[in-house]
Amino acid sequence: MRDRWITKSGLILALAGNAIGLGNFLRFPGQAASNGGGAFMIPYFLSLLIIGIPLMWAECAIGRYGGRYGHGHTAGMLHRLWPHPTSKYIGVFGIFIPFVVALYYIPITSWCLAFSWFSLTGAYEGLQTNAEVGTFLSSFQGWESSEHFSSRSPLIVFFVITLGINLWVLSGGIGKGIERLAKIALPSLFLLAGVLVVRVLTLDPPPGAGPDQTVLSGLGFVWNPNLEALSNPSVWLAAAGQVFFTLSVGWGIIHTYTSYLHSDDDVALTGLSTVSLNEFAEIVLGGTIAITASVVFFGIVATQEIAGSTFNLGFQAMAVIFQQMPFGGRTLGAIWFFLLFLAGLTSAVAITQPMIALVQEGFHLTRRRAVTLVGIALFVMSLPTLFMADVLGELDFWAGTFALLVFGLAECLIFAWGFGMDRGLAEIRHGAQIHVPALIVPMLKYITPAFLAAVLIGFSWQWFKDGLGDASPGIQFARIFMIALFIGIAWLVRTALREPAAEGQ
Ligand code: PHE
Repeated sequence: MRDRWITKSGLILALAGNAIGLGNFLRFPGQAASNGGGAFMIPYFLSLLIIGIPLMWAECAIGRYGGRYGHGHTAGMLHRLWPHPTSKYIGVFGIFIPFVVALYYIPITSWCLAFSWFSLTGAYEGLQTNAEVGTFLSSFQGWESSEHFSSRSPLIVFFVITLGINLWVLSGGIGKGIERLAKIALPSLFLLAGVLVVRVLTLDPPPGAGPDQTVLSGLGFVWNPNLEALSNPSVWLAAAGQVFFTLSVGWGIIHTYTSYLHSDDDVALTGLSTVSLNEFAEIVLGGTIAITASVVFFGIVATQEIAGSTFNLGFQAMAVIFQQMPFGGRTLGAIWFFLLFLAGLTSAVAITQPMIALVQEGFHLTRRRAVTLVGIALFVMSLPTLFMADVLGELDFWAGTFALLVFGLAECLIFAWGFGMDRGLAEIRHGAQIHVPALIVPMLKYITPAFLAAVLIGFSWQWFKDGLGDASPGIQFARIFMIALFIGIAWLVRTALREPAAEGQ
């Protein structure tokens, strides 16, 4: 028997848990603030409507369809949709992307756990500026030495703990592992975020604050629409990229999760609920906490500068801010970083699962064996991210940004044209508990792919204009590694799909 979700609410929590991640609480505030706050939100919402929701529906339908044939990864699924020899190799992206991202996403999740602990124990107490906390963070990561850390042991310990929890959850399987985790972690996450939102909304400006350092101007910064930046292509690219990242579309993950549905289960309402829960967490919670707190403590101009780099705002600035709160700063800081950890963990299990499904299917292994194998590979292959400069950024650029757009476009074409929108619409509507408008047909056939193609062209143009930059050893290593990994996965896919997919994996 194929592993299945146990309850409907559990599936929705698991899908939302996978979508709600570091992207919502770290990446979104950074992207929104550094792209002009309210100016970012218009391209963001348009991208959500034009690519986010249509692709979410398509991916849910593809996943459930592929699951009927016993496939838990996109290579098998896309091949069922469109039996052309290239389709399974396009599907390799849906295993490659999450696996590569796992190589830095799990380490970052472990830093959140570490910072939660450091906040609780007062390890960084007294560090008053972003720069000081920055030194603390980078000496924890082993990039520079300071009086705080003399070796990388704490880094490794927190990484092993996080990876261990991830694998332990996955060894429980879909219903008894991932679903159980989501049922505990997601409500806890909302609760912790609620506490922080209330605290941030009741913040008083620090002594000597400028007139713009208020809660209201923080909220206004994100919410007052600003049409000025609409003609700036890089804001559009950032917005479309964020939609892909945060909704987990274009990754192969939504497909994998929905492949464990029953064939008559609803996908339309499930997909829409996932989008709604994710957007609530992203805009209402993620947008309020970090940006508003930073505006109150540092002002709008400084916030835009701080937000230019992801860790500046979420890690450094937040660590400084919590210390300056009148009471309970340590606990609130620990809550913030633990919230990030929970958000990261429920996403980490998601990005590990497609590779497990492939290894199980390809080698006819038990789940435990597959988890062990993938766990060893993850541990070994994460070491360069941890120890070698520039690897993380390079993996994030190619796998976590560029490849998402490519795969999103390719799967959209395969679904709408290879499989055909007549069958496509019927698939999305099958078992649906809400009405799916027929507008989705021209959307997936023309509008979504055209929009995506435009974004890809803009992206390539920018990168062509800026050049790829000097390639440090870390960057070169990361590029060669990714090519080798892609070929390795393609080989595994070929082996797995040579015989009909085994039922009972
Ligand atoms: N959506 C997640 C986030 O916002 C990232 C992610 C993508 C996680 C795909 C799992 C799968 O952080």
